[in-house]
Amino acid sequence: MERSLTMELVRVTEAAAIQSGRWMGFGKKDEADEAATSAMRKVFDTIPMRGTVVIGEGEMDEAPMLYIGEKLGLGYLPEVDVAVDPLEGTNIVAHGLWNALSVVAIAERGHLLHAPDMYMDKIAVGPDAVGVVNIDAPVKDNLQAVAKASGKEIADLVAVILDRPRHAKLIEEVRAAGARIKLIPDGDVAAAMNTAFPDTGVDILFGSGGAPEGVLAAVALKCLGGELQGRLLPENDEQVERCAKMGIREVNQILYMNDLVKGDDAIFAATGVTDGELLQGVRYSGTVATTHSLVMRAKTGTVRFVEGKHRLEKKPNLVLGQE
Ligand code: FBP
Repeated sequence: MERSLTMELVRVTEAAAIQSGRWMGFGKKDEADEAATSAMRKVFDTIPMRGTVVIGEGEMDEAPMLYIGEKLGLGYLPEVDVAVDPLEGTNIVAHGLWNALSVVAIAERGHLLHAPDMYMDKIAVGPDAVGVVNIDAPVKDNLQAVAKASGKEIADLVAVILDRPRHAKLIEEVRAAGARIKLIPDGDVAAAMNTAFPDTGVDILFGSGGAPEGVLAAVALKCLGGELQGRLLPENDEQVERCAKMGIREVNQILYMNDLVKGDDAIFAATGVTDGELLQGVRYSGTVATTHSLVMRAKTGTVRFVEGKHRLEKKPNLVLGQE
């Protein structure tokens, strides 16, 4: 893949963040999501690539744009798989909480898992703990392994878990093992990424969340040298069939990094919509919007933080309500 695509992808997530950030705190998650999606879609039209959406806003008949199978880009090579989450954390924006992101990942065609829209059980760690956790191992064993690998005590660790009733037993097990917990209302892509940045104060992510978010987080962790293991959790026959349609035969298998993102190259970009541990949310001041993004490439391991100052009077497409 062309290295210049890294900066092109930041433009995509910046536009989506600028548009959806305007909805912060308005209690309107769908409007925020639509704003992000249409801004993202427009910028994709300017990128020299031949992309196919493999993780998107829904099936072709469910989503007006960025649907699975949609072709993106100017149509020149390279041919790539595209995974998008224009607004990861729709409720976060609606309530003005932490860690909403606009997220994009690309990899060579056929290299991203076509994860269906269902739950995935996940465990994610940063580079220090690669190779020591196992999604099937008892919670305490995983915490012990992470503590040993990172030169800490279990009591020093922070596990991040989505605050959901389905995680009650998991939360009890982490507490019983003696680790601290950060319960989050939404946003497990940011949470998984944070495990690779010691300053965020997060060591491990446990629990189930969206499968598409699992693939996006896996791309981020591939770039960062971390690890995510997942297992799809279909809830009925229709979801099992959906897995088969997307080429996933063994629904119960553990999905390792190479199942989620094949090969050694992929690019990931994220822009903060609301403030988070890693990225600041969008700031607006008159005609200027300031964005904070992260863009990285698995092949080289380069991680860039990008601050963007956007002169909105020169970019009328980024002013809410205008085309
Ligand atoms: P949305 O942006 O689609 O609202 O997703 C937010 C999110 O919290 C994800 O980060 C997470 O993977 C998923 O929802 C968890 O799903 P649920 O809210 O059903 O537990």
